[in-house]
Amino acid sequence: MPLVTTKEMFEKAYAGGYAVGAFNVNNMEIIQGITEAAKDLNAPLILQVSAGARKYANHTYLMKLVEAALEETGLPIALHLDHGDSFELCKSCIDGGFTSVMFDGSHHSFEENIRLTREVVEYAHARGVVVEGELGRLAGVEDDVNVSAEDASYTKPEEVEEFVRRTGVDSLAIAIGTSHGAFKFKPGQKPQLRFDILEEIARRVPGFPIVLHGASSVVPEYVKMINDYGGKMPDAIGIPEDMLREAAKLAVCKINIDSDLRLAMTATIRQHLAQHPDQFDPRQYLKPARDNIKKMVAHKIVDVLGCDGKA
Ligand code: G3H
Ligand code: 13P
Ligand code: ZN
Repeated sequence: MPLVTTKEMFEKAYAGGYAVGAFNVNNMEIIQGITEAAKDLNAPLILQVSAGARKYANHTYLMKLVEAALEETGLPIALHLDHGDSFELCKSCIDGGFTSVMFDGSHHSFEENIRLTREVVEYAHARGVVVEGELGRLAGVEDDVNVSAEDASYTKPEEVEEFVRRTGVDSLAIAIGTSHGAFKFKPGQKPQLRFDILEEIARRVPGFPIVLHGASSVVPEYVKMINDYGGKMPDAIGIPEDMLREAAKLAVCKINIDSDLRLAMTATIRQHLAQHPDQFDPRQYLKPARDNIKKMVAHKIVDVLGCDGKA
């Protein structure tokens, strides 16, 4: 099966009250761990590539790895650009075979965000590619840019209908309290999401797919493992899984997960090297890392997203 767009995935997810996982990929082991879990569970899948990942792994290598995943799994897979920050980057991914791009204009003014997003939508739609826009601003770290909690802002529901209509986007990322990275809430702070904003948005654009970025749960087991084996991670708090399940039942059709995969991979490698200090064959530590990425993704698919059996 060739790469698909997210159109049909989102229609089914919205109607079925579940979400599709969008997992960030950077190399072969991560792609294999994610796609093996999705295959075992017959789940639809979005593989997403950030500008940093594309620079790290090279566009052609990533395309060939994703091609291999399609051949090995037979699943509906969408290949998505995560946080595209320019028309040129979106165009390059569209021309290079991606089926979905995000244009993240959330740091621009409302009017400028509309103008720039519209440009990407026109180019993408003419080539059968779908576009995710963003309104509101998440806190946290993206491509080494740190957005402080003070500079973050919730999505204004009253802007959503106009943004969707004037840009023509196919889905919209919103800010309701999630944030990028492993440190989403301060120690002692109770994690909270603004479900009232999500519900108000769903009321204003009924049936329209909403995206949640910054949705890792920061599984404590892996933070502990990193620290048990020589790491020095401060207290890390993520989004409680029951909140994500709740969001998936509502208008949220795409849930972005990167940090949880990074934690699983790094913790496993740290543990393996600490337990086998004479080891220098990369396959010996990358194999358990890949296995734990697979376990993490299987858990997300079944217990958080609810998209198992929906491919
Ligand atoms: O939202 C950001 C993603 O976690 C990608 O991170 O830009 O470091 O690849 P990255
Ligand atoms: P996390 O850092 O919570 O995994 O979020 C990833 C993300 O939103 C990628 O766009
Ligand atoms: Zn993101």
